Amino acid sequence: MPIEIDRDHLIFHLNGPDSSYVMAITPQGYLAHLYWGKRLAASPTLLRVLPLMSRPFSVTRERDSSWSLDLLPQEYPGLGHGDLRAPAYQVLLDDGTMVLDPKYQTHRVMAGKPTLNQLPHIRVESSEMAESLEIELEDSYSQLHITLLYTVFTHLDVVVRSVRFVNHSGHSMRILRALSATVDFLEHPWDIISLPGAWGRERVIQRSPLGQGMISAESRCGISSHQANPFWAMLSPDTTEETGEVFAFNLVYSGNFLVFSEMDQYHQVRSGIGINPLDFSWLLEPHETFQTPEAVLVYSDKGLETMSWNFHALYGEHLNQGQWQHRERPIVINNWEATYFSFTEEKLLDIAKAAANLGIELFVLDDGWFAQRNDDRHSLGDYEVNLEKLPRGLGVLAEEINRRGLAFGLWVEPEMVSPDSDLYRQHPDWCLQVSHRASSWGRNQLVLDLSREDVQNWIIKTLSKVFQKANIAYVKWDMNRSLTEMGSPWLPEKRRQETAHRYVLGLYRILDVLTGLFPQILFEGCSGGGGRFDPGILYYMPQIWTSDTTDAAERAKIQYGTSVVYPPAVMTAHVSGVPNHQLGRIMPWDARHWMAMSANFGYELDLAALTPNERTEAIEYIQFYKNTLRKLVQWGRFSRLQDPFTTGGVSWMFSDGEGNEIVVIYLCLRTEVNSIRTWIKLRHLHPAARYHIRCFGEKQEAQDSWVVLGGDELMSVGLSVWPGYDGFARAWHLIRDKKRVAPDSNDLLS
Ligand code: DGJ
Repeated sequence: MPIEIDRDHLIFHLNGPDSSYVMAITPQGYLAHLYWGKRLAASPTLLRVLPLMSRPFSVTRERDSSWSLDLLPQEYPGLGHGDLRAPAYQVLLDDGTMVLDPKYQTHRVMAGKPTLNQLPHIRVESSEMAESLEIELEDSYSQLHITLLYTVFTHLDVVVRSVRFVNHSGHSMRILRALSATVDFLEHPWDIISLPGAWGRERVIQRSPLGQGMISAESRCGISSHQANPFWAMLSPDTTEETGEVFAFNLVYSGNFLVFSEMDQYHQVRSGIGINPLDFSWLLEPHETFQTPEAVLVYSDKGLETMSWNFHALYGEHLNQGQWQHRERPIVINNWEATYFSFTEEKLLDIAKAAANLGIELFVLDDGWFAQRNDDRHSLGDYEVNLEKLPRGLGVLAEEINRRGLAFGLWVEPEMVSPDSDLYRQHPDWCLQVSHRASSWGRNQLVLDLSREDVQNWIIKTLSKVFQKANIAYVKWDMNRSLTEMGSPWLPEKRRQETAHRYVLGLYRILDVLTGLFPQILFEGCSGGGGRFDPGILYYMPQIWTSDTTDAAERAKIQYGTSVVYPPAVMTAHVSGVPNHQLGRIMPWDARHWMAMSANFGYELDLAALTPNERTEAIEYIQFYKNTLRKLVQWGRFSRLQDPFTTGGVSWMFSDGEGNEIVVIYLCLRTEVNSIRTWIKLRHLHPAARYHIRCFGEKQEAQDSWVVLGGDELMSVGLSVWPGYDGFARAWHLIRDKKRVAPDSNDLLS
């Protein structure tokens, strides 16, 4: 089984197929971290990693000068007894002190994995796939119990961690910091990879060396944010896509988070991830419980690609388990960039008809369908259809669209309210606000206070009514500003700093109820594009609009960076018009297709205005996506081959995981006159097999002719392109010839 316990020495050994995570209880009762890395056989000799020594200025516990908490690698370190590194938690007791000393009490092993109340979490349906361990610590003076929960999997190198605080005393206490996980590392040096960004420029891969001191990423926006993503990887400096050690963290949470690594004076490193302690405190009354979100920890000794595959497999199998988990995602046409707010029923049906003729499967009506929503200054909150634009209502529009052979989807932005709306006029108190302070506006709107149950219920009721009005198969759930004036007057004063977390819990409750009431609806998350791209959202919504940027070259970077953690199957990407609306750049039709087809594919332009040539080609792309690429995007394996952040191009491949069918995609972002030939070396093919290869490119390259090359040659020599111009794209479809296994490369080429 994945969990082995040495009961004599109290060593807990958690195994993945290729990794181990090991902890022990020290003789003094502390929960020490012994090891995380490549798989090890269980052995008590591992206890020797504990540094039984003290150092100048590192204090010892009372008279025992043989060790110091400052040097002890720990699982959930606190504050005040000599560990001078960043703590995992901080609790203010009602006597005004913050020095706690939790010691081991008990542990429990469970088959499978327990679910978490109120919070999204990794799900394990079959108890043979995973095993979980709870370790309970107790601070005897305060009677605070801290229970650490770990889950390990038989088939993935993943450890899922979370923490539960229970107040067993008769006094209240206040949690000021409650990270989901910290890990102490004894080695160095390290590089750190994080995914910072901005609106329209999400998830840039940033790699930097860690020196003494702290580096961190955090969101203070109330959402996981464009600026940062709750992902962090520590890696040995020589780590590449295919080689080297990686220790990665991701948080299943959609609000303010903190992730950091701190290298101390002895070059020990502590990394931690959890809810951002900034502007957070949680009152824990007697017998109350506080549960942290889950942190997902992934280990790989085969570089970043294997790390990504572990995240992709975990999120594909164990996060969103709704009706859409194993269904092919529809190809959509969204009217946003085609019409913005200005449309009529006739125009929408025109676009829908053109879409149906191309083979597109679902029409999404974006912003602007309700009340006086003719720009972004009005009507959020008033979800009554605008009869000037849609005189026959939503129900008839959906029917007409269905009659044309497409399913119907709808945009909503339920967490927000326009000051110019009936909802705001009736309930000005329903917004996040701080007494005596004016509320800030973002995109001309205010934020509904989702910490309030009456507001949550109103959203559930209002949207349920809308979703019942028409045959709705898809919902785009948008959210277009950061959260400020983080307060909720309905909360008692002593609980005001709980607002940000309560907002997230309120959102989760709404999503839980609505996805339960409407299981047939495919929900897509969106926050000005990818401002809330995190596993918390993916628990409820199986896909997310990756970015508001639709330019193919920018999308290459955004989708490449996003793939470090999140599988292409959860990203959505659209072919849009040129000049591109965000950038003014003109990218070719094929380049726009290959980038959009590298995720959940759709269009976002006036399809009724395509040229005959564009139409013919779009039909071919859509056919290829339906017949070949879609299943590889959704259920295949994704490999990053060429990094767009450091080279002038991007290439990646989708494979069925068996090396039998593969699609490789290349896009040149920036070329030079008289350009250098680019070689794209493929991965994970069968070296001795032959592959039939078809290249999609310019007409003169005879699209339909297949060539045959050997797997070894494709991996060692590669496919080649002469990138002729910016936006030059190529794609190759490879099928393994299963009939003949060639004995040598001469035969392969014959
Ligand atoms: C922001 C989204 O990211 C866009 O795709 C679009 O839905 C607009 N909001 C609509 O207001």
